[in-house]
Amino acid sequence: MVKRVFSGTQPTGELHIGGYLGAFRGWVEMQHTHDAFYCVVDLHALTAGEEPTRLRRHTLEVASLLLAVGLDPDACTLFVQSHVPEHAQLSWLLECTATMGELGRMTQYKDKAAGRESVPAGLFTYPVLMAADILLYDADEVPVGEDQRQHLELARDLASRFNSRYGPTFVVPEAIIPPVGARVMDLAEPTRKMSKSTSSSLGTIRVLDDPATIERKVRRAVTDIDTEVRYDRGTKPGVSNLVELLAVATGRSREEAAASQAGYASLKAATAEALIEMLHPVQERYVELAGDPAGVRAVLEKGAAKAREVAGTTVSRASQAMGLLPPGRS
Ligand code: AMP
Ligand code: TRP
Repeated sequence: MVKRVFSGTQPTGELHIGGYLGAFRGWVEMQHTHDAFYCVVDLHALTAGEEPTRLRRHTLEVASLLLAVGLDPDACTLFVQSHVPEHAQLSWLLECTATMGELGRMTQYKDKAAGRESVPAGLFTYPVLMAADILLYDADEVPVGEDQRQHLELARDLASRFNSRYGPTFVVPEAIIPPVGARVMDLAEPTRKMSKSTSSSLGTIRVLDDPATIERKVRRAVTDIDTEVRYDRGTKPGVSNLVELLAVATGRSREEAAASQAGYASLKAATAEALIEMLHPVQERYVELAGDPAGVRAVLEKGAAKAREVAGTTVSRASQAMGLLPPGRS
């Protein structure tokens, strides 16, 4: 049987090549091999205190970008979390299964809450909502970054606990985590992962950066004092990152990519060119989609309708298992 896959991304910040290469290209591939549900998790973004106008804009932008990178509404179900009210509903049921102790041990929560005078309760229950996202769709597999591993463990624990307390109700999901080597590092600080939080800096290449910007950022990328083009993350993090980018953008191995360039100047020129070429079709498609917001919203509307069919069944199943009286007369 085809496996069900679920993943989500927050509508915050701008999509960079780290997220594109590390996550969303995988989503595109999995839509052809799996029954795939992909979600723009706007309810999660509320925990970051997003400004309302920006949140609304980013939600549409991220959905458009996901379509631009190759998600095909005929091959997967793409939708916005808040359009499927069952996410909030199941989250409550699961909150009554989760404990303060286990939520308090989540490192992301501890990091985000540290030093704040007032911590929104949503930041604390964030991983329960994430568990609800996944369990609603009986997902077998959940591709996520390493930073989400602990949240996935919690989702598995909640599913198993619920099943043993109330009877078999949820599928216990597997995390699919890419190997550490698949990380794209910051061009200016190559020992740190390229991330949204530094998206204004020279170290991050955004999917929508124009060719001149990409060239400039790659030209200024940190290398090292010797001149050898070689893949070695330990001693040559900057050069290795460029080699990795050149390799993935041209579909070659790291060794082939490294061997194809004699020095740093040509490595940088070739990497910039390969990235520009890789992103060109995505950018072209994005411009089309950005010019047709109603079309994108129609895709999301259809996605939410498909998602609700599955989510509604799961919420009824969980509600009944817990002893909530079904609505209606019979
Ligand atoms: P983010 O854009 O930080 O919300 O991340 C979205 C997805 O992209 C997550 O699943 C991350 O694991 C992945 N991702 C983010 N940054 C990188 C990176 N620098 N290298 C590889 N994957 C990344
Ligand atoms: N918490 C995830 C992140 O920040 C996003 C997310 C929300 C998610 N719900 C999910 C990812 C369900 C996978 C499955 O990256």
